[in-house]
Amino acid sequence: MADCKVYVTRRIPKPGTELLSKHFEIDSYDSDEAIPHQVLVEAMKKKRYDALYCMLTDTIDSEVLEAAGSQLKIVATMSVGYEHIDLHECATRNILVANTPGVSTDSVAELTVALLLLTSRRIAEGVEAVRNGEWGDWKPHWLCGTELTGSTLGIYGLGRIGFNVGRRLKPFGFSKIYYTDVHEVSYAKDIDAEFTDFEGLIKNCDFICVCCNLTPQTRHMFNAETFKKMKNNAILVNTGRGGVIQHDDLLEALKNGDIAAAGLDVTEPEPLDKDHPLVHQKNCVILPHMGSNTWDSRNAMAEIAARNCVAAITNQTPEGNVLTS
Ligand code: DGY
Repeated sequence: MADCKVYVTRRIPKPGTELLSKHFEIDSYDSDEAIPHQVLVEAMKKKRYDALYCMLTDTIDSEVLEAAGSQLKIVATMSVGYEHIDLHECATRNILVANTPGVSTDSVAELTVALLLLTSRRIAEGVEAVRNGEWGDWKPHWLCGTELTGSTLGIYGLGRIGFNVGRRLKPFGFSKIYYTDVHEVSYAKDIDAEFTDFEGLIKNCDFICVCCNLTPQTRHMFNAETFKKMKNNAILVNTGRGGVIQHDDLLEALKNGDIAAAGLDVTEPEPLDKDHPLVHQKNCVILPHMGSNTWDSRNAMAEIAARNCVAAITNQTPEGNVLTS
């Protein structure tokens, strides 16, 4: 086992390196920035690695896997999302794929609530107004937002994160919580959430939190047609994946009043250019994909991805096993 080798595509939090160093010889891309694709391909050719420890910014495609060689046992991503990994190629080559489910649930759920309040109460505009010296005498109509209390909440994707968003938001006193997912889930009753189809969700909800993965089924589900069917007062919050929303259509919907506001922690593309019109749209708040940016989450993510690498070389099933068959 001492001969096992891992390639790590970034500087990672200490708990990850500490665990890896007990089981592997480690090579890594010694930077806080993402490794360029060709640099990764070349790195994979240099040694015969048993494990590839990657981030959600690394495209793990056939070129990387071919360069890595047939001894590669696992692609372990330090993320919940795994849409950057070609699962079909990994399965064909008998390579395990593992993510870090669960550990960022609380951090992402907390940020979703923050983004919902930030958007509904126009907090970013308020902060900006104070900074710009626009805070004058008290005015009855200035910077008024919408209360969550008594309104309808929709959760698109009631997985771990969606459920924990609902759990945190329930005490705000929504009149109704709806959710849409591929199928009904029994734990929805714990937050009194009612299953509905996508049409029901977009037509009935004042606030919609997108908490799903990006799949062919969820891609661009929020588009011009969807925005036309949503309530004009609706606020859309996305902490799932940017690709669930068609961003040109969102911009139009925000400009022409099809919906009231949006709060985005994830966008398409990422990063979003500072000159992108959505960045300057007043009723849109954009954060730089920081849902899991807490020390607790990042340390745990680093350690679990490392544990997954260790599992692969000790013939155990990684805890975030993505390819189940
Ligand atoms: C994940 O783990 O997939 C998150 O999006 C990272 O913040």
